[in-house]
Amino acid sequence: MGPTILAIESSCDETSAAVIKNGKVLNNIIATQSVHENYGGVVPELASRAHQQNIVPVVAEALKNTGIDKRELDAVAFTQGPGLLGALLVGTSFAKSMALGLDIPLIGVNHMQAHILAHFIDDPKPGFPFLCLTVSGGHTQIVLVKDHLDMEVVGETMDDAVGEAFDKSAKLLGLPYPGGPLIDKYAREGDPHRFSFPDSEVEGLNFSFSGIKTAFLYFLRDEKKKDENFIEKNLNDICASLQYSLIRMLLLRLEKASTRYGIDQIALAGGVSANYGLREALTRMAKTRNWNFYIPDFEYCTDNAAMIAITAHFKYLKKEFSSLRVSSEARMKF
Ligand code: KG4
Ligand code: ZN
Repeated sequence: MGPTILAIESSCDETSAAVIKNGKVLNNIIATQSVHENYGGVVPELASRAHQQNIVPVVAEALKNTGIDKRELDAVAFTQGPGLLGALLVGTSFAKSMALGLDIPLIGVNHMQAHILAHFIDDPKPGFPFLCLTVSGGHTQIVLVKDHLDMEVVGETMDDAVGEAFDKSAKLLGLPYPGGPLIDKYAREGDPHRFSFPDSEVEGLNFSFSGIKTAFLYFLRDEKKKDENFIEKNLNDICASLQYSLIRMLLLRLEKASTRYGIDQIALAGGVSANYGLREALTRMAKTRNWNFYIPDFEYCTDNAAMIAITAHFKYLKKEFSSLRVSSEARMKF
């Protein structure tokens, strides 16, 4: 019988708790903070306060929902980083207190590794080695995954993350935060070839999104000078064209990575993997290239504690426990 673990995620604007038993995720409770909508982005101080309010009810719900008593737990896991420090501290302190109170091991989990291991919650599961394109609000990486806990970042963004590029562009269009899903929605009705935005040349398998962000800013400024209602009249085409350019930048590097490493097991992870256009384009590319291709369920694309739970499961089996002295790490590497 495998371990029963309570996992907590609090790195950004979702307070989440999940219980995993014998490698099977039993539930995944998520409280999304709506407080940031009016600010055009996540406000760190407000995020920490909302986590403080949510953490007790969310954990209580996760345990009650599965009928598991806290005394049955074999370990408590939490997101150690990367993330917003004040937000991470809430989950870290809570998990430490529980581990101390129950006298059970504590497991600190890397948030980006967890996004990738979300692929091991349900079938079909990728075989090793595989390449994972991890795309979120804070990261854009190509990761060579050799085993559950053995990963190497082989490409990453030099500046903004692609989720940030989506959200900041949406803000320029006057859309509320987070704008990524809205761009995705309008893009479905638009012409992706109406406008074009440039890729940025960077070395190797790395990305840069600051150039396209600036190009988009100037494009809107110039078009609005000619017609002040330009955005309203062309929203679908603008979104479709921008999304097309961002997806092209991602897929170009992924294709390069697949060739360089000779790997045709390809996975997608992180919040932006919920993007319909990206899922579709990648599915098409996988068919052409004969890739075995894995996309997570929508529930496990954006931040959630189920992915922390599955990572903690693998760490438990290897007895990779954290000391109670472990701290939150805002910029934690694998
Ligand atoms: O992984 P995640 O939930 O949080 C981080 O770890 O950052 O990713 C959140 C990001 C946000 O930038 C959000 O706009 C983006 O994922 N996102 C999307 C979509 N759904 C979420 N971006 C584009 N299209 C979507 N459908
Ligand atoms: Zn995330």
